[in-house]
Parts: sequence; structure tokens; C-alpha cells
Amino acid sequence: MTPLQNDTFLRALLRQPVEYTPIWMMRQAGRYLPEYRATRTQAGGFMDLCKNTDFATEVTIQPLERFDLDAAILFSDILTVPDAMGLGLYFETGEGPKFTRPVQTEADVNALRVPDMSKLRYVFDAVASIRKALNGRVPLIGFSGSPFTLACYMVEGGGSKEFRLIKTMMYSRPDLLHKILSINAQAVTDYLNTQIQHGAQAVQIFDTWGGVLSHAAFQEFSLRYIQQIINGLTREYDGRRVPVIVFTKGGGQWLEQMAECGADALGLDWTTSIAQARQRVGDKVALQGNFDPFALFGTPERIRAEAAQILADYGAGTGHVFNLGHGINQHANPEHAKILIDTVHELSRQYHQ
Ligand code: CP3
Repeated sequence: MTPLQNDTFLRALLRQPVEYTPIWMMRQAGRYLPEYRATRTQAGGFMDLCKNTDFATEVTIQPLERFDLDAAILFSDILTVPDAMGLGLYFETGEGPKFTRPVQTEADVNALRVPDMSKLRYVFDAVASIRKALNGRVPLIGFSGSPFTLACYMVEGGGSKEFRLIKTMMYSRPDLLHKILSINAQAVTDYLNTQIQHGAQAVQIFDTWGGVLSHAAFQEFSLRYIQQIINGLTREYDGRRVPVIVFTKGGGQWLEQMAECGADALGLDWTTSIAQARQRVGDKVALQGNFDPFALFGTPERIRAEAAQILADYGAGTGHVFNLGHGINQHANPEHAKILIDTVHELSRQYHQ
């Protein structure tokens, strides 16, 4: 494999010295880019992009052609795993993801199995192809959903506002939910390890819905299974440590607990003070975040000021990967994303002398 030309992102995750604060954006490949929309039209639909190696590679690289990003993220989706379990994933325009066969009854749960990784071969082929196309430019991030976040979609049968069905299961038949979560944890462990074998140089676990849980339930139904995955992950590959990032949206109050789960870095959403977060986790983990994605809708001056504030709040020294606090919105202006990325590179050098 070609040596990495820019490993700033990997060094920051491992809290090793860097020259500037690296940046990437959650959902950096996506609908806010006209070139993405053009490729998606050509492919037919979103899953057609994910399942075609050349298209998946092309859209992964698109944001890197426009912006000076320090990492690439595999173009795919967290719902590929439940799809491989046979739940029948489809996307209804404007309505987000849905499953034809959600997991709701005891019989559904008993029929659920860890999928054979061969069903996800298109993902691993994309990882290998993207690594080749990157040619050492920046590291490639692999990812998956957390067991709980995947279970939300599997039980609800799609997106949800209230999470009534999964919470009904949690409070009436916790044994069933635990069974789903153990299967998900094993599936995600296999999935991430296979991504690492095919070339993912860091991995992120998206716990998008962990924050809807009560204080006690977060440990029992989300963090515990994330920890189980991390214990089973390949932590070194090709002579390099493979850093693990855990992002729980709404997880700001659990940072001390999360810092003990074995992750190298924690993702923060925009509601948490990164200065306080750094104090709370000490030198246990690096931090990633946490620019409000909707601040990109502000003026260029305001975008620069918000970025400067986050850099100043984190302060001097390594261990910070700049990112948005959640995915970039489809209506965001790509020129504004460029302003953010260039500002972070420019203003962060003073904190790494
Ligand atoms: O970050 C990246 O650029 C990599 C690609 C990526 C996608 N989804 C592409 C995508 C990643 C990392 C994801 C993760 C994902 N998928 C999460 C966790 C992160 C988060 O945002 O909280 C979740 C919850 C999903 C499930 C999912 N997939 C939803 C809710 C949707 C609809 C979202 C929407 O905005 O309509 C998707 C579809 C999806 N995944 C799109 C993209 C670019 C939009 C599809 C399209 O219409 O082109």
C-alpha cells in the first residue's frame, strides 16, 4: 500500500502532535453537493450508489476534490447491516429509510441472525476501491451504526420521532431487545473488522439515537454493546493502530462513562462545551466536533467566528479533530463548507506550536 501523505487525522485521534487541527465533516459526501446529485441521478437511487463500486468510490472522492479535507469516509449507510439480515431496506423519496420486514414480535427476534459477511461484499469492495483511488492522500474512515441505533430502525421499521415501539419493547420485554442488541453487536464487530481488513484506517460508530435513552438505560442498552464491539475489534492493522471514534448524539452528559469504553476518540454534538468536555475526559480520549451544522447557514464572518471559538475552547495541544456536531444539511452551501475548512486549517496552527 502507498504510504499516507497526510496522517494528521490519525495522529490527532491518537493524541500525537500535529501541525494543525484536522477536519472532516459527517455526511461530507451527499446531497448538498451538485456533483453528488448528478451521480445519484446517473446511478438511479441511493442504494444503487452504495452497491456500485465505481459510483461509491466516485462520490466518496467528490468532497476531497472540492475541499482540503483531512479524511475520507466510506460512502455507504449504517442500514446495510439490517438489510443484510433480510429486513428489506428501501428508501421512499422524502421519507427516509424504511424496512419491509421490521423486527417486532418474539418470532421476528428469534428468527434474527448475524448476517453472512458475503452479503455485504459490495461495502468491502467499495472500501478497497476507495483506498486505491485515494492513493495515500488522506486516511479512509469506515463506519457502522451502534447496536441500539440500528435496533431503532429495525424495530420501528424506519425513522421515528418518539421511538414508541422500541421503548415499548425495552420496558415490557427487555429480554427481546437485549437479544437484538447482542446480534447487532456481533454483526457490527464482524462488519467493522472486515472493513479494516479491506483498508479502513479508522472506524466510527454512529450512536445517533443513544441520546434518546434515560440515564440508566443508556449504559444498559447502548454503551454496553458499543464496549462489546470495541473489545472485539482489530486495533492494529498493517503496522498501524486503527483508531475507534464513538459518536453519541445527545451523549454529552455521559462523557466520563464513554471515555472508559475503549474508544480512542469521542464525537460531540454542538450542545456540549468542548472546553468542559476536554476537562472531563482528560487525556483518556481525543475529541471530535462540534460545530453546529446549521451555523453553515450564517454569514462567512459568523462561520469564521464560530470556528475560532471552538478552536479556542479546545485550546492548545493535540487530541482535537474538528467536525460538525452532526451531518451536514442537504441545503448547506458548499462555499460555506469551504470557508469553515480553510478557517480551521488557518486558525488552528497557533494551537500546535
Ligand atoms: O458521511 C458520509 O459522507 C458517508 C456516508 C453516510 C451516509 N449515511 C450516506 C447517506 C453515513 C456515514 C451515513 C450514516 C447514517 N445513515 C446514519 C448515522 C449518521 C447520522 O446522520 O446520524 C443514519 C442514522 C443513517 C440512516 C439514514 N440513511 C437516514 C436517516 C437517511 C435519510 C437521511 C436524509 O437526509 O434523507 C439515509 C440516507 C442517506 N445516507 C443519504 C446519504 C448521502 C441521503 C440519500 C440520498 O437521498 O441521496
